[in-house]
Amino acid sequence: MLDISVVKTDSPKQIPGPDDPLTFGTIFTDHMFVMNYEEGKGWYDPRIVPYGPFSLEPSAMVFHYGQEMFEGLKAYKSDDGRTLLFRPDKNIWRANKTNRRICIPEIPDEDFLQAIQAIVKMDEAWIPHKPGTSLYIRPFIIATDPFLGVRPSDTYIFCIILSPVGAYYPEGLNPVKIWIEDEYVRAVRGGIGEAKTGGNYVASLRSQVKAHEEGYSQVLWLDGVERKYIEEVGAMNIFFKINGTVITPMLNGSILPGVTRDSVIQLCKDWGVPVEERRISIDEIFEAHKNGTLEEVFGTGTAAVISPVGQLRWEDHIMKVQDGGIGPYSQKFYDTITGIQLGRIADPHGWTVEVK
Ligand code: COI
Repeated sequence: MLDISVVKTDSPKQIPGPDDPLTFGTIFTDHMFVMNYEEGKGWYDPRIVPYGPFSLEPSAMVFHYGQEMFEGLKAYKSDDGRTLLFRPDKNIWRANKTNRRICIPEIPDEDFLQAIQAIVKMDEAWIPHKPGTSLYIRPFIIATDPFLGVRPSDTYIFCIILSPVGAYYPEGLNPVKIWIEDEYVRAVRGGIGEAKTGGNYVASLRSQVKAHEEGYSQVLWLDGVERKYIEEVGAMNIFFKINGTVITPMLNGSILPGVTRDSVIQLCKDWGVPVEERRISIDEIFEAHKNGTLEEVFGTGTAAVISPVGQLRWEDHIMKVQDGGIGPYSQKFYDTITGIQLGRIADPHGWTVEVK
């Protein structure tokens, strides 16, 4: 159990009102959670303090070798005024899996959850109410040793910041256009593709810029070895509905184990919808599109929630899906997952956790 000290801000910011437009990740709340680590001492000094800059040495290791991790989850306000988190245990499990991969000391699960609960409780008033909005929670850890040699740092900062958000894509629930990348790769098995660490995201930027220039929102990655099998989109996992079966790439070590991905798979099982986690080649998708069995494509992610894909571009081929509209399954997954997140419909798996 953490003994969290609290220093409240003496200059609270203006909380966005119901009519203020919310985008993704631009506004931050009044406070943040911070905790330090030192080799031999462990995690110490858990505290809630006013949101503000860190002071770090220019030699801090995170600036040079990227030893950092992050997570993303959301808090929602239910109609009866409760504050709900969605499957925080899954994010905490994944955070410590990332930590192990990149040699960051783990944070005990119960301390991690306590820290999330404490900071969300503190800035609860910032949780927006409008449909499609939520309070995005961004925990992260950075390596802070002032040292230029390559080794794991002996000191770290763990921080949690909060941001009231709207849809991740400007399109909202409207279908996005995705570019299938065949030049660069995001990750290879044995690398860090399944860890939530900045390196995976910087690896995606060149392709993302290229895709944007061509009018596409994001890129879909193919595997790094054969450049043949579908991996993920980077900001989300990907699903296809082909001939009545929902299919998503299996977790092969280079794909992020998404929480929303896992929830969609569970919902398929609950509903008796055939669902498969397996290798999917780009040729299979191309064929399915050609013969009319590619019924829906959608991405899943904490930030993206369920994001229908209306168009895929692979080399010179443009594959339109659902006539560029929202498919019935995408809509049903979206309605069910957001319904559970908001406490509006039954939560048979106990996915929501109340912040008290
Ligand atoms: C999330 O969905 O929470 C993510 O971390 C994706 C991020 C790149 C916005």
